[in-house]
Amino acid sequence: KKVVLAYSGGLDTSIILKWLQTTYGCEVITFTADLGQGEELEPARKKAELLGIKREHIFVEDLRDEFVRDYVFPMFRANAVYEGQYLLGTSIARPLIAKKQIEIAEKLGADAVAHGATGKGNDQVRFELAYYALKPDVTVIAPWREWDLLSRTKLIEFAEQNQIPIAKDKRGDAPFSVDANLLHSSSEGKVLEDPAEEVPDYVFSRTLSPEEAPDKPTVIRIAFEKGDPVAIDGVKMGPAALLAKLNELGRANGIGRLDLVENRFVGMKSRGMYETPGGTILLPAHRAIESITLDRGVAHLKDELMPKYAELIYNGFWFAPEREMLQMMIDKSQEFVTGEVTLKLYKGGIHIIGRSSPYTLYDQELVTFEEGKVAYDHHDAMGFIKLNALRLRTLAQRKKKLGIK
Ligand code: ARG
Ligand code: SIN
Repeated sequence: KKVVLAYSGGLDTSIILKWLQTTYGCEVITFTADLGQGEELEPARKKAELLGIKREHIFVEDLRDEFVRDYVFPMFRANAVYEGQYLLGTSIARPLIAKKQIEIAEKLGADAVAHGATGKGNDQVRFELAYYALKPDVTVIAPWREWDLLSRTKLIEFAEQNQIPIAKDKRGDAPFSVDANLLHSSSEGKVLEDPAEEVPDYVFSRTLSPEEAPDKPTVIRIAFEKGDPVAIDGVKMGPAALLAKLNELGRANGIGRLDLVENRFVGMKSRGMYETPGGTILLPAHRAIESITLDRGVAHLKDELMPKYAELIYNGFWFAPEREMLQMMIDKSQEFVTGEVTLKLYKGGIHIIGRSSPYTLYDQELVTFEEGKVAYDHHDAMGFIKLNALRLRTLAQRKKKLGIK
């Protein structure tokens, strides 16, 4: 039996690798993706080799541009946020990893895939819904739900028995569960479990605090084409490079920290800390370019659909037909979302200070308080208000007749 494992090279997935070999008697194929988590990939390759994986069964791939171009940017076209705040940094990465695992499985004739998510979280759902959507007959192995290595001590014991190298800081109580990619870093668990307790400083890894940020604002211009950012300060950049640049700007200006209690799909509340420096700049910038290029009807309908779209991504339904249907509508809405937005970044704050577009719907002649265009006749407004008031007046009359206040 061959199994394709989503392998980070870390302790947990290394233990899973060994466990699949020893307990399941599987031939393990490893897949390690660079999603911009900021870690070297070669050590993961070396470690897989060390753990007895054949060279031709070790897959390492740089997915940064694909991740940002085909997942992050399409999601930002929708202005997607879960429960009003979460920018979905982990949720959006899982479908891509799962898709690549399935591709490798198909290529090598493997019938099983495995991941390192626990049995309590969202990630297991996201990985597995994607696997099944892309390969209906796949066998899924989720070691965290199956094995009896339920304490840290047992895990370490298993690692030691199987010659798996353990980083020093993992020997003690690993502080929390971290997931990182180009869009965000998330931390959950251990010191963060009590939502009444402030997140300690050492948990933050990719942003300065607003207090530490410079006392002088940074002004930047972001150019958009059809809803996607394409340049910063006039410099064209590919998707991954552009998001990395925004991350740098966000980091330096103390932007993108979020301490959140959210509802997991499996039913429990969890407390997490997120750092999404670039994404936190991108969201209001995209809204600003939409503000002059989208028609009101389209803009409002989009905003109504957004929570649904965000929930689909959070719950792992990226490859579901309703997500694809919404995506088509959202993409269609972005046809004229082209132009430039100027922002001021200052001590954790993002301030839009200008926007322009060759396709702007903003008509200064129309809106001006000075003498305006003939297209707008004040008399029309009178009738417009009177007809809209008709219902309200009828209701008021009834109240009056009945003597109700
Ligand atoms: N709670 C976030 C989410 O569900 C982050 C999950 C982080 N995952 C992890 N394996 N550390 O999207
Ligand atoms: C995990 O359970 O593996 C991480 C947390 C989550 O998926 O929500």
